[in-house]
Amino acid sequence: MSSALFTPIRLGEFTIPNRIAVAPMCMYSADDGSATDWHVQHWMSLAMSGAGMITFEATGVERRGRISMNCTGLYSDANEAAMARALAPARRVAAPGAVFGVQLGHAGRKASTQLPWLGGGPLTPEQDAWQTVGPSAVPFAPDWPVPEALDEAGIERVVAAFVQAAERAHRIGLDFVELHGAHGYLLHEFLSPISNKRSDRWGGSLENRMRLIVTVARAVRAALPESMFVGARLSSTDWVEGGFTVEEAIEVASALKAEGVVYICASSGGNAHDQKIPLGPLYQVDFATRIREGAGIPTRAVGLITTPAEAEALLREGRADMVALARAILADPRWPWRAAYELGGEPYAPPQYLRSLTTVKHWVVEEDDD
Ligand SMILES: Cc1cc2nc3c(=O)[nH]c(=O)nc-3n(C[C@H](O)[C@H](O)[C@H](O)COP(=O)(O)O)c2cc1C
Repeated sequence: MSSALFTPIRLGEFTIPNRIAVAPMCMYSADDGSATDWHVQHWMSLAMSGAGMITFEATGVERRGRISMNCTGLYSDANEAAMARALAPARRVAAPGAVFGVQLGHAGRKASTQLPWLGGGPLTPEQDAWQTVGPSAVPFAPDWPVPEALDEAGIERVVAAFVQAAERAHRIGLDFVELHGAHGYLLHEFLSPISNKRSDRWGGSLENRMRLIVTVARAVRAALPESMFVGARLSSTDWVEGGFTVEEAIEVASALKAEGVVYICASSGGNAHDQKIPLGPLYQVDFATRIREGAGIPTRAVGLITTPAEAEALLREGRADMVALARAILADPRWPWRAAYELGGEPYAPPQYLRSLTTVKHWVVEEDDD
């Protein structure tokens, strides 16, 4: 029986060779938004895995929309040139047909934070904190800075920034952009009644709360050629009473599909400081299934999917169309090679590393014999 994980999938105008996606992962290693040598080696390493879809980290569409001082951005010519420089070698070592994209985001009220390994949390004025923005003047947590509520002109500026960043992604030669509508960042902040207390056309009803992400999707789609596709990541629930729900996520996914968005990555949480997440293997997969069935759009499942067998089973059961891996593929960028031998797929390694495949096969077969 052939492997579901290694069955090609069509997204936009691309036929992607397998259903393994590298999830977007911030590296906190950029220089004023520009990718550095760290990104060159990191993206090459992930691309060598043979994964079919590689999504570059949350990238600020404007400077103040970066999560931290060292997050990537696409707000300047220098940022554009740096990402193009890092993309080229990654493409050269990737599997034929693999697609590369960037997650475009705006960190909103959760911008201006310290690097996680220095403790995270908001920057202090001494650390050059900057003024954050959000749908309303409601901080992420009581001890976080109060964001400035965006006015109409501010919202227009954000939409224009998404479009400009998408145009840069096109010039760089990326295949897709992913709108970051998750994890408590600006687009999610507008979606969620916890952070959006507006009474104008951008707040209140779900139709109003989703207006920003839908407007951004429409504008970005219109700015890109058909040869590029657009996806989105959503937090399917806020994991607190009175927060954004999966039923609402299904409606948002339907509206995004109508704007030409071709996949949803079903994540969760990040907008409520008191969220209670029932962490465990595959804990978000049901959201991907519900959005897939409710909105009729391909979904990427993500979250504690760690073994090839788990990934294969969830695809085979029709619970999602792709899987995205973050920590597992960071820990083992050869995960897809092992998966191929375990599941009967075809591994892809760059020719320089081909001789190592017999070793990987030996490991997998030996493990099976135990
Ligand atoms: C180092 C690291 C950086 C991350 N950065 C991002 C990001 O830029 N954008 C995003 O949507 N999620 C980000 N995430 C979340 C992952 O994409 C993923 O949703 C989450 O880690 C759960 O998947 P996993 O269990 O396979 O790690 C990050 C996760 C890690 C571990």
